[in-house]
Amino acid sequence: MLRLLDPKGKHVLDIGCGGGIYTRAWAQLEALSVLGIDFSEDMIQTARDYSTNFPNVSYKVGNALSTGLEDQSYDIVFERALIHHLSDLSGCFKEAFRLLKPGGKYIIQDRTPTDVTIPGSEEHIRGYFFEKYPFLLEIEMKRRHSSSEVEEKLSKTGFINIHSFSFWEIRKIYQNVNELKADILERTGRSILYELNDEQLCELVNYISLKISSIDSVREKDRWTIWTSIR
Ligand SMILES: C[S@@+](CC[C@H](N)C(=O)[O-])C[C@H]1O[C@@H](n2cnc3c(N)ncnc32)[C@H](O)[C@@H]1O
Repeated sequence: MLRLLDPKGKHVLDIGCGGGIYTRAWAQLEALSVLGIDFSEDMIQTARDYSTNFPNVSYKVGNALSTGLEDQSYDIVFERALIHHLSDLSGCFKEAFRLLKPGGKYIIQDRTPTDVTIPGSEEHIRGYFFEKYPFLLEIEMKRRHSSSEVEEKLSKTGFINIHSFSFWEIRKIYQNVNELKADILERTGRSILYELNDEQLCELVNYISLKISSIDSVREKDRWTIWTSIR
C-alpha cells in the first residue's frame, strides 16, 4: 500500500472490508481513522472482534452502492476484492466519488478476466482449478470486470488520473504439498470452490498434487489488478 500512497494522518474508508485484514493494515500504516463497511453483519462482527486493539478503527454495516455516510468525508476510499460481487459498477463508483474529498484517492483491487485466465503453475495454483474444471472458469469470467470497463466507468463518473497495474501477491507459503491440500479443502466457504461437491473437491486436490513436483515448500501467488484514480 505504501508504494501507492502514504495514509499517515488520512481518513480511510475500506468498503467491502470483510473480516478487516486490510482495514487494520491501513491503521498500522498510521492512518488517522479507518472505517470498514460491509453488508454482511457476520463479517462486521468478525472484523470488530479482531480489531479491539485498534482505537482508530471502526466498522459499520452498509452497502457499497449506498453507504449512508456523509459527502466528501474521506481522503482514501479502498475496495479490495469487492467489485466482482457487483454488477452495477457505475453505482459503486458514484458512491465512492460522493464520499471522497476533492483530490481524494480511490484504490480498487480485483482480478480481471486476464488475471484469472493465467495458466496453473507451481506458484499460480488457482490456474489449476480452471484447468481441471472449465465450468468454474465460465462462472469466474461472468463476474470479473475487464480493465477497460473499469477505466471507462471511472472516467465517466468523473475520476481523473486513472492508472492500472497488475502484480503478483503471495497468498500463502506452505511447508509442503500436504499443507496446501489441507488449505484448499478448507477454502470452500469463501471461494469459487464453493461450486464443487465434496467428490469434485477431492479430485481437484489430487489433480493439483500431481502437478506439483516440489517436495519442499510451495509459494502460492495470486494475480491482481489495482486501479488508482483521483476525485
Ligand atoms: C472477497 S471479500 C473481500 C474482503 C476484504 N476486502 C479482503 O480483501 O480481504 C468481499 C466482501 O465484500 C462484501 N460485499 C459484497 N457486496 C457488497 C456490497 N454491495 N456492499 C458491501 N459489501 C459487499 C462481502 O460481504 C465480502 O465481505
